[in-house]
Amino acid sequence: MVLSFGLTDFASSGFIKASIMNKKIAIIGGGNLGTAIAEGLLNSGFSLPEHILITKRNIKTLSALEKRGVLISDNNEEAVRFADMVVLAVKPFQVDDILAKLKPLLNSERHVLVSVITGVTIGHLLKAVGKKLSVIRAMPNTAIAIQESMTCLASHDANSDQIAYIEDLFNQLGKAVWIDEKLMDAATVLGACGTAYAMRYIRANIQGGIEIGFDAATASLIAAQTVKGAAELLLKKGSHPEQEIDKVTTPKGCTIAGLNEMEHQGFSSSLIKGIVASYDKIEKDS
Ligand SMILES: NC(=O)c1ccc[n+]([C@@H]2O[C@H](COP(=O)([O-])OP(=O)(O)OC[C@H]3O[C@@H](n4cnc5c(N)ncnc54)[C@H](OP(=O)(O)O)[C@@H]3O)[C@@H](O)[C@H]2O)c1
Repeated sequence: MVLSFGLTDFASSGFIKASIMNKKIAIIGGGNLGTAIAEGLLNSGFSLPEHILITKRNIKTLSALEKRGVLISDNNEEAVRFADMVVLAVKPFQVDDILAKLKPLLNSERHVLVSVITGVTIGHLLKAVGKKLSVIRAMPNTAIAIQESMTCLASHDANSDQIAYIEDLFNQLGKAVWIDEKLMDAATVLGACGTAYAMRYIRANIQGGIEIGFDAATASLIAAQTVKGAAELLLKKGSHPEQEIDKVTTPKGCTIAGLNEMEHQGFSSSLIKGIVASYDKIEKDS
């Protein structure tokens, strides 16, 4: 199901905000992603600390969140009893055992199950819980740690309030878009592997910058801020990359000379081939 209707205005109304603040969230799996989600919800003010309960088996590593007032536990059942929304942030091979224990407690009238687990489908989750349930699959990226994730979302049996709530939640952690679940592998490549591709592009800029005279620290700053500014131009103005390129390319100038040399060396083609290679690898392994 593709859900792309504009719920943001509705979701940001006072009525929805009030209900959002009262919702309780359990995060099962307080690792990299689980703690980043909890921190993002706290930093943005979206959730009160006492409305978040985060679990893992070794809870010592959750002390920083505990100091901020977040509830911590090594008991997943307790977390499900506490929460309206249950976020699964464990490794794929752990999900079946965890859901087998939680399924008697999951209640379709109350709970929304949100999974950020790569490669585990909504169908798989529903089979594991063995009952009708609102399920959301989310694919964020590592920038969720600084509330700048791109998160692709797909839903099953969620009502409009739940959709608005989830959209608002992930918009606190960056930007969110609803997609058809069959595009989740493509979302993994473009949105999650995409962070690594962008890092390589920036690294190459740094290497080039050093060769033309900058020290590494200055080259890193210039490369990263320039890429951030370029991305912001597209996001804020809604323009096409080529329109922005036209503004930088003077006839017979240095920018077009560099760009054309990059294309002669296969720049766009190698990126596209890399994206397709990542996608083919997921398809082959699934
Ligand atoms: N990192 C990313 O940027 C990213 C992006 C998109 C999707 N994902 C997906 O998100 C999931 C989590 O990734 P991650 O990087 O956060 O992994 P991670 O750091 O290994 O976190 C998983 C956590 O689950 C906990 N855990 C294991 N068994 C548990 C149990 N029975 N009950 C409660 N907690 C349990 C582990 O802690 P204990 O061992 O102490 O229990 C661990 O802290 C993965 O499926 C990954 O594919 C990650």
